[in-house]
Amino acid sequence: MGGWPASSSRVSQALLLAGCLLAAVLLFKYLSTGISYAPPSVFSQPQKGVTHVLVTGGAGFIGSHATLRLLSDGHRVTIVDNLSRGNLGAVRVLQRLAPAARLQFVEADLGDLPAVERLFARNHFDAVMHFAAVAFVGESVEQPLQYYHNITANTLTLLEAVQRHGVKRIIYSSTCATYGEPDTMPITEDTPQRPINPYGLSKKMAEDMIRDFSKANPDIAFAILRYFNVIGSDPEGRLGEWPRPALRHYGRISGACFDAAMGHIPGLKVMGTNYPTRDGTCIRDYIHVTDLVDAHVAVLPQLQPGVIRTFNVGTGKGYSVREFVDACLKVTGKPIKVVEQAERRPGDYAEVFSDPSKIQRELGWQARFTDLEENLRMAWAWRKEHPSGY
Ligand SMILES: NC(=O)c1ccc[n+]([C@@H]2O[C@H](COP(=O)([O-])OP(=O)(O)OC[C@H]3O[C@@H](n4cnc5c(N)ncnc54)[C@H](O)[C@@H]3O)[C@@H](O)[C@H]2O)c1
Repeated sequence: MGGWPASSSRVSQALLLAGCLLAAVLLFKYLSTGISYAPPSVFSQPQKGVTHVLVTGGAGFIGSHATLRLLSDGHRVTIVDNLSRGNLGAVRVLQRLAPAARLQFVEADLGDLPAVERLFARNHFDAVMHFAAVAFVGESVEQPLQYYHNITANTLTLLEAVQRHGVKRIIYSSTCATYGEPDTMPITEDTPQRPINPYGLSKKMAEDMIRDFSKANPDIAFAILRYFNVIGSDPEGRLGEWPRPALRHYGRISGACFDAAMGHIPGLKVMGTNYPTRDGTCIRDYIHVTDLVDAHVAVLPQLQPGVIRTFNVGTGKGYSVREFVDACLKVTGKPIKVVEQAERRPGDYAEVFSDPSKIQRELGWQARFTDLEENLRMAWAWRKEHPSGY
């Protein structure tokens, strides 16, 4: 009878045993460390015809609306947000709407250097839209260091990562607060930047850093968009503005109006009635979030290496606080108690509205949502549908 010699059978038994042991060790390692042998993620590879945009602060008001638009335009988006002020609920809405493999969410703080390095090392970004920031004038006066850290220092960290990882297109969210209180209105991009509060100054410092960085890195293309006061919400009602209730006292005027209408706060306080304006209250230029997002989408393909395209994004028309409050009363239809106090809010300025002619001329962008009442109606519709936020 033929057969394996005894010694050869012992060898094959030993080999089988070794194979089983190796498989057991690998299985154990896989289960205990979560190492996956999946192919590289689509987010780590460039793809022809698809722009992968890193949206910092994408869980926040403007960043979430921008993400929605980028996704519907066929782009790929990675949101990075520490959720300090944004809403996971907004990210969930976006995840439900996003086509497969088009959106990922990374919870991380831009001040966390190793986390930022991991983010850039694991992904291939074609562009960055840097929205993430703390953004309340009053808070910046009380806690200036938080603002220099969160806005200026974190922009530095981001630029270092951009340089290390060869990202070539950056759009920076700046603000009309960088102009301070100009001598003449309307504000053009050439109006001298003389910020009068730490929020505006920390943004201007980030802009200055970008200007120097751009000179030294002429292969990178930048846009700096200086937003005026952003209001409204997605016209289709999918997203809205939901700032942290704990931050309400710093709040922006539309949020305060809706909070008062819903009884979360006793009423509306108009702070400052002796400004040198047509009715003594501050004048601001209110830009709809959809128009603002359009400006980002318009500038993205127009970016040029070595150039910083700088634009004001506003409507060109100013409304006083009293006019805003009247519109709010009309839209909500609620008997909101309005208290006027002569004393001004620290760090505030009298009158600010934009001259948007440069962005109209160079990008063909124009604000489409210019009816204040209509814009407030959209935002109020979302708030009524979401009385407790996302
Ligand atoms: N809303 C306005 O009227 C207005 C006007 C001018 C400029 N801006 C600028 O637009 C940008 C977006 O503002 P918004 O109104 O959407 O504010 P927002 O608070 O709704 O969103 C900011 C987002 O950034 C995130 N964030 C903050 N610090 C972070 C950090 N260290 N790491 C990671 N994520 C962080 C927050 O969690 C939040 O989701 C800001 O840069 C702001 O300065 C806003």
